Amino acid sequence: MIKCAIVLAAGEGKRMKSTTPKVLHKVCGKEMVNHVIDTMRKAHIDDVNVVVGKSAEKVKAGTESRNVSYSFQDKQLGTGHAIICSKEFLENKKGVVAVFAGDAPLIEASTVERLLELHINEGFKATILTSVVENPTGYGRIVRDKNSNVEKIVEHKDCSEDELKINEINSAIYCFDIESLLKSLDKLNNNNAQGEYYLTDVIGILKDSGDKVGAMAIDFEETLGVNSRVQLAEAESLLRERINKRHMENGVTLIDPSSTYIGADVEIGCDTIIYPNNIIEGNTIINEGCTIYGNSRISNSIIENSVTVQNSVILESKVGEGTTVGPFAYIRPESTIGNHVKIGDFVEIKKSIIGDNTKVSHLTYIGDAEVGTHCNFGCGTVVVNYDGKNKNKTVVGDNAFIGCNSNLVSPVKIESNSYVAAGSTITNEVPEGSLAVARAKQVNIEGWVEKKGFKK
Ligand code: UD1
Ligand code: CA
Repeated sequence: MIKCAIVLAAGEGKRMKSTTPKVLHKVCGKEMVNHVIDTMRKAHIDDVNVVVGKSAEKVKAGTESRNVSYSFQDKQLGTGHAIICSKEFLENKKGVVAVFAGDAPLIEASTVERLLELHINEGFKATILTSVVENPTGYGRIVRDKNSNVEKIVEHKDCSEDELKINEINSAIYCFDIESLLKSLDKLNNNNAQGEYYLTDVIGILKDSGDKVGAMAIDFEETLGVNSRVQLAEAESLLRERINKRHMENGVTLIDPSSTYIGADVEIGCDTIIYPNNIIEGNTIINEGCTIYGNSRISNSIIENSVTVQNSVILESKVGEGTTVGPFAYIRPESTIGNHVKIGDFVEIKKSIIGDNTKVSHLTYIGDAEVGTHCNFGCGTVVVNYDGKNKNKTVVGDNAFIGCNSNLVSPVKIESNSYVAAGSTITNEVPEGSLAVARAKQVNIEGWVEKKGFKK
């Protein structure tokens, strides 16, 4: 049987007061609509169609990596109309379509799977995901008959006084039998308080034609829809709690979960300890037994086992096993730091490879360089990689010793087993096994202080 899905994302999201379309606002580092799409894929629904309208090009660009198809809703005439716009996607398909709102990012894959299972096993033509809430204001109400079978959904603005008292609400997540849905779309009208074509009316239409419809009630938190920045922060906090709990259950220690910000797609190995005020983003993987001390930001990076990071920023880079980074280090994109390396305080590494067991302990800049193994960079070394026009490459072999306060003016090569004297400005290749001294010779002028009359 075909399982496919439609995500409604054509609305404007006026209440966000943003130039970014609502569904592209991020929750735990990922766009809301992409949370929904990724959740569907986890629930084994591959064929996903996104209905776009307002800011269609932006929404398409924001979901480009997800391999979905699109339908276009020119005017936002209601959620039912949005589905009418995706008719082409549904036609000639037999099976079930799940419908989601692009602004409800907290729905979990296991819930979607349970909904599909109930829908299929019970032979329902439509199954609604609902929840029971204290304050149902604004939501569509689930109207049930005497035997508590679902009869219809009534939108808040269309409710009678009795219906307003119902506190089981429509989450706007559903499964439909595709043929039954298509048949019902022809019968939709906009004779209601908002003058819109409501998708919710499909339920009553199916029921009236004798079809079986059902509902599954879940926790309200999972169905939370984001219409404002306040709700965006609520969703962020709920999802953060869920993400942090998952990592702790997997064997990660979070010293203070409430101040730990881990992106939705981050992976962390067991026995890693994360101290407060860390931000770990994107597709970062932190392996086992690492210690991440406070105030670090690690983005789209791979951190191997037993790495220690303290007060540092690591972007789009790889850090090898047993390496220590920081305090106050900055590893910029496209860097590969080897195993058992020391990147110490106030060190910046940019687009460079640092070989195993090399030490760059303090106050050093290395950019566009390839550094071998077992090297030692003295305090205050600068790789002079930019000549004002081009970025040039520096190559340092294995076992090289770069004395303090040296400049390596690129392009330049320091061969293996060589030494650079402290304070040197190296502009030419240093051959293997040699010492390069590139500084003025020391001159002592004896008796100078007394002659000048400066003696105390
Ligand atoms: C909808 C439901 C309501 C439910 C609530 C849950 C309807 C008629 N009502 O109301 O029963 O309790 O969600 O949050 O469906 N959209 C389009 N095109 C349109 C209109 C909306 O794509 O023409 C999209 C929006 O971008 C949004 C989603 O559909 O992602 C929901 O639309 P919204 O206007 O927020 O519906 P609600 O009034 O919240
Ligand atoms: Ca809504």
